[in-house]
Amino acid sequence: MLNIGLFYSFRSLKTRKIAERIEECFGAGRLEAVDAETVTPEDFMRFDRFILGVPTWFDGELPIYWDEFVPALKELELTGRKFAIFGLGDQKGYPENFGDAVGIMADILTGRNAEVIGETSVEGYAFESSRALKNGKFTGLILDQENQPRLTEERVQDWVEQLKKDFE
Ligand SMILES: Cc1cc2nc3c(=O)[nH]c(=O)nc-3n(C[C@H](O)[C@H](O)[C@H](O)COP(=O)(O)O)c2cc1C
Repeated sequence: MLNIGLFYSFRSLKTRKIAERIEECFGAGRLEAVDAETVTPEDFMRFDRFILGVPTWFDGELPIYWDEFVPALKELELTGRKFAIFGLGDQKGYPENFGDAVGIMADILTGRNAEVIGETSVEGYAFESSRALKNGKFTGLILDQENQPRLTEERVQDWVEQLKKDFE
């Protein structure tokens, strides 16, 4: 397996818990965790495979820490690099912006010629609209700890199995 960077906010509560579970599912030593709160372009360019934790904040926006990195990200040349994005959201509280940040991040990355992998089915979710929807699927994994916490473990496990193949 190639070098995979797992980027998320070490200070987040819910996202961090999921990121740690993803790490466990991959197996010890398979991923390298990097704090998205202090990420630099140099951190990014050390990897050719990425998992990004991007929860949705502020009614359909990126969290502050990712937003601060966007100007630098938009300068990077990411051709040939593969990204998988997971994000927490709240489909009942924010049905019109469910998991939007996953789609916002995917658009930025594909705009830099990166490949975004790890799409998932919308089955089992109930929401009105989402920027994460691309051709009828989520362009990543969206988890809803507010309304569907008991579905998270299986969703994470299935996604990690998919990534193990798609990252090859
Ligand atoms: C002020 C606020 C705005 C939010 N806006 C959205 C939103 O637009 N879409 C969504 O799916 N979830 C939204 N959420 C839900 C968060 O994504 C969810 O609580 C998530 O678990 C936060 O993860 P974190 O604590 O790791 O940052 C919002 C939560 C808060 C408190």
